[in-house]
Amino acid sequence: MKVKKVFICSNCGANAAKWEGKCPSCNEWNTYIEESISKSTPQEEKKKLWRTEKSHSVAPVLIQDVKYSKTQRLSLPDGEFMRTLGGGLVPGSITLIGGEPGIGKSTLLLQLALNSQLSILYVSGEESPQQIKMRAERIGISNKACLILAETDLNKVLQQAKKVCPDLLVIDSIQTISSPLLDSIAGSVSQVRECTSDLQGFAKESNVPVVIIGHINKEGSIAGPKILEHIVDTVLQFEGDRNHIYRILRTKKNRFGSTDELGIYAMEATGLREVDNPSELLLSQSDEDLSGSTVATTIEGMRPMLIETQALVSQAIYGNPQRSATGFDLRRLSMLLAVLEKRAGLFFGQNDVFLNIAGGLKVQDTAIDLAIVAALISSLHNIPVSNKIGFAGEVGLTGEIRAVNRIEQRIEEAARLGFEQMIISKYNMKGLKKTYGGLKIMPVGKTEDLIELLFT
Ligand code: TYD
Ligand code: MG
Repeated sequence: MKVKKVFICSNCGANAAKWEGKCPSCNEWNTYIEESISKSTPQEEKKKLWRTEKSHSVAPVLIQDVKYSKTQRLSLPDGEFMRTLGGGLVPGSITLIGGEPGIGKSTLLLQLALNSQLSILYVSGEESPQQIKMRAERIGISNKACLILAETDLNKVLQQAKKVCPDLLVIDSIQTISSPLLDSIAGSVSQVRECTSDLQGFAKESNVPVVIIGHINKEGSIAGPKILEHIVDTVLQFEGDRNHIYRILRTKKNRFGSTDELGIYAMEATGLREVDNPSELLLSQSDEDLSGSTVATTIEGMRPMLIETQALVSQAIYGNPQRSATGFDLRRLSMLLAVLEKRAGLFFGQNDVFLNIAGGLKVQDTAIDLAIVAALISSLHNIPVSNKIGFAGEVGLTGEIRAVNRIEQRIEEAARLGFEQMIISKYNMKGLKKTYGGLKIMPVGKTEDLIELLFT
């Protein structure tokens, strides 16, 4: 077996014969690491197969002749997880769940294994059976048939998986599992790639779905290679702020469903709880109207939800005024402040501005602009906005309030939660009613209209 040394970029997987400071393909610095590749890796063997006679038995077929039976998806006792996957795990598929360390990936999957009535093999390379048991007791065990295996050797894992033939195989985590065929360390690019493709081989052969946990590094990619994302069928991302209780499970790639859906959870003392009614939790419980706080109607995945946006505008004491945003793009906040200065004559130049999206969520929906602008003005003038008013509108550079998508869905959610007014763009009014139950629609065209409506 001939061993070759190569340098592999841990970010994008590109390789080179010598060390490079900056990766020429993804432009990242200091990502090259040395790895050894043995000449007869199984992958190379596979590549050579086309030369042999055997491969002639597989011939192309006409697409109209391909038959398949509607596969039964594996259903698991977690509504949010099922929703995110688009209705269950496909047999023989391989799913990757990425997330920062400590966000709750192990908890999510162990909980699934414990609540389901299926036979699930949970392989952990990170924790001992005793540690897993301790966690399981915290969550509560209802599936006594759940199997756990503390092992890091891929071959042993696959041997056991073949023997047990479970309904679902969970690998926690791909960075701790290694194949003895390669002499690089666990978690290296070639190990992660090799183990994933072997696990995929197992899934395809046995029709057992496999779920792999992968840690992501601080840049937000699955540690090591992006390549993993190409190999697997589905990529889910578990995200949230570790200091808050809410977690979101997003789909980044799904060969068997849409990528629009997402699942919402709350991390509690006894594990993760599914949140199927996010609005009621993301609104603060206070009855008082407070300055700087407004309610935005946003759409995450396919679901409308109401979230509280909070702004604090205060006199800057130390020289440079500060700008800070949690859960919202800081550049967009600067843009909104500039629009308010230029178009509405409000000056924030001498003030510190802090913006916070309640619940620790990250929101990308531009429809929350209007709520943010209202919160900023409310805090600047110290005039509270009623917490029975909802907002939905995008703010443009000229100060115009622009129409947003799925407006009716947003309004209906606000009406359902007992809101009395909803301020939206006047360009969104086509086809809308004036009232929805007890909720009155208030159209605005420019930031000045908003100021006149709420703050004069
Ligand atoms: P964990 O699932 O170990 O994270 P990951 O596998 O993504 O690294 O989750 C760890 C955190 O979750 C830890 O800080 C404690 C918290 N936690 C709870 O709050 N409640 C629980 O019931 C459990 C099991 C964990
Ligand atoms: Mg873990």
